[in-house]
Amino acid sequence: MHAIGVDIGGTKIAVGVVDEDGAIVAKTKRKTKPQDPASIDAAIADAVAELAADHEFHAVGLAAAGFVSSDQENVLFAPNIAWRDYPLAAKVGALIGRDDVAVVVENDANAAGWAEFAFGAARDVKHMALLTIGTGLGAALVVDGKLVRGAYGFAAELGHLRVVPNGHSCGCGLRGCWEQYASGSALTREARRAAVDRPVRAAALLELAGGDPMAITGPQVTQVAMDGDELGLELLAELGRWIGEGSASLAAALDPELFVIGGGVVAAGDLLLHPARKAFEANLPARGHRPIVPIVAAQMGNDAGIVGAADLARIAAADR
Ligand code: BGC
Ligand code: NA
Ligand code: ZN
Repeated sequence: MHAIGVDIGGTKIAVGVVDEDGAIVAKTKRKTKPQDPASIDAAIADAVAELAADHEFHAVGLAAAGFVSSDQENVLFAPNIAWRDYPLAAKVGALIGRDDVAVVVENDANAAGWAEFAFGAARDVKHMALLTIGTGLGAALVVDGKLVRGAYGFAAELGHLRVVPNGHSCGCGLRGCWEQYASGSALTREARRAAVDRPVRAAALLELAGGDPMAITGPQVTQVAMDGDELGLELLAELGRWIGEGSASLAAALDPELFVIGGGVVAAGDLLLHPARKAFEANLPARGHRPIVPIVAAQMGNDAGIVGAADLARIAAADR
């Protein structure tokens, strides 16, 4: 049976019909405004209606970048989208208006992690941690083949582990959260700062950004680094170091077999992952006396959220 997966991003939503093997058979997308939850609901319903014209399905999984309640109905809080105690499943369900379709909400990183576990980079392991590097830092934990949800649904909100006492302030209201250092937003922030402080060193980046430091983007950092630009390489290495150090602490809690790193910046490959592995090894508790856990790039690319949300919704619908 096919299911629909919806990946809700800050500025666009991607929607796909997914088969039981995790393959997307049809896809569409819509633009959205992160500060307007009602417009997000409407865009989702509209995209689902488009796909419903040609496809059968009985479940819709909504991947949302926030704290999702354990009944998988509500987004209680989102640091980077304007959801507060928001009944996302009910709102979207009412717009879709079909009794035969279960609408299930899932944390976005849990969805991506599930896709990697079921069909992608982690399909051969039982214990894994996924980190997705985007606007925020999302995470999914699979322990003994099961997605870890916690008592209230909020497990694996690892972006909000504190890594720097009194550090940068975070959308969650705290300071020094890991996502303020290991995210695409952190990469862009540091790149822009470097361009303001050291314009000569940032010449390549500034040229790509049309001379405006505030116009520098994450993909531009990757682009100049791939051409050997020193500042670009340093910025990616710094991001990698934050990823690796935090992962070493996670290993203390979880002892996983594999770390999977997702998000656009993994396009940088070893320019990001090599520094991450080095920092991981240097900070691993009991290093030298335990296996070095591989840190690998995600394989499902931009489709991970769609595929994972659809698969988890199919599983949830079967249980209802
Ligand atoms: C949110 C998570 C989300 C992650 C990635 C974090 O700021 O708290 O719920 O999974 O960003 O989108
Ligand atoms: Na998560
Ligand atoms: Zn935070």
